[in-house]
Amino acid sequence: MSELTPFAEPEDLEAEATLRPRNLREFIGQPRVREQLELVLEGARRRGDPPDHILLSGPPGLGKTSLALIVAAELGAGLRLTSGPALERAGDLAAMLSNLAPGDVLFIDEIHRIARPAEEMLYLAMEDFRVDVVVGKGPGATSIPLDIAPFTLVGATTRSGALTGPLRDRFGFTAHMEFYEPDELELVLRRAAPILEVDLRRDGAEEIAGRSRGTPRIANRLLRRVRDFAQVRADGAVTRQVARDALDVYDVDELGLDRLDRAVLNALVRLFGGGPVGVSTLAVAVGEEAGTVEEVCEPYLVRAGMVARTPRGRVATAAAWAHLGIAAPPDVTPGGPTALF
Ligand SMILES: Nc1ncnc2c1ncn2[C@@H]1O[C@H](COP(=O)(O)OP(=O)(O)OP(=O)(O)O)[C@@H](O)[C@H]1O
Ligand SMILES: [Mg+2]
Repeated sequence: MSELTPFAEPEDLEAEATLRPRNLREFIGQPRVREQLELVLEGARRRGDPPDHILLSGPPGLGKTSLALIVAAELGAGLRLTSGPALERAGDLAAMLSNLAPGDVLFIDEIHRIARPAEEMLYLAMEDFRVDVVVGKGPGATSIPLDIAPFTLVGATTRSGALTGPLRDRFGFTAHMEFYEPDELELVLRRAAPILEVDLRRDGAEEIAGRSRGTPRIANRLLRRVRDFAQVRADGAVTRQVARDALDVYDVDELGLDRLDRAVLNALVRLFGGGPVGVSTLAVAVGEEAGTVEEVCEPYLVRAGMVARTPRGRVATAAAWAHLGIAAPPDVTPGGPTALF
């Protein structure tokens, strides 16, 4: 995997534990989500009830897990962590639910991957704070209703579209996480620098922020790579020039696109004449899984105004042609940074 894959890699996990914001004030960016969440949490605090169930949705590395931990911390509530794939059997979920203390936060990461029986158990738990525990097997099996403590479910997903309607409807609040602005990523970097003991200069931070694909996890990872470079090949200070030289070594271009992003753009433009072409065809052309192209490359390429999604498939905008240094045919969609927001 490359430097820019927003998925967490083993090296990240340790760094992330130390770099995670601990409360809403330390959480940088996402002003709308922060404001909405503040209201949800404050309202609940005043009523003395656990808040509504919360769904956090957005591309990898934008801070969903961090926010889930913050929700529990802000409420002073106990936190239980699990994930969709870990809840293969409904019994596993039943055990977890029946052990909750009143007001606990139950965090289910990758909730779109939860198995069906567990999902159905969750409906009742979320709505009525009840589970039906099945005792015995076959025709003699009976189900015993069991009350559980009122709790708050926080679910995180990179694919909210993959959630079933009934599950999505049971969340009282959905936070849609957006890619970060470069100046927000600069703040993320300036916060991380002293923790990682890097001498990060202002222009260095600006350079790394602009190449981080709108993603704090990537910003922090690039900072660690640039730190290596600064210590080995320079005097340790991360200036703009040092950041540029370092990121060139790691194949991160000036827009923050990495090798896979560029491969996708190249295939779209050179092989398919700018599209329209389906994601799965595109994925085969670059030798990647369709899911990775769709969930990892595409959201950022769309956000950067290089790729447009159309009913007939993906289309390269003029900005994509320009980025690859190829003259675009006259009828191409303009796109580009003006199409950003
Ligand atoms: N708003 C933020 N302010 C400061 N740092 C942040 C912020 N959001 C994320 N980070 C940094 O990015 C790292 C990754 O964030 P996090 O693990 O919460 O992302 P995620 O959305 O849960 O990703 P995934 O979908 O892969 O689980 C955090 O450990 C933290 O260092
Ligand atoms: Mg996470």
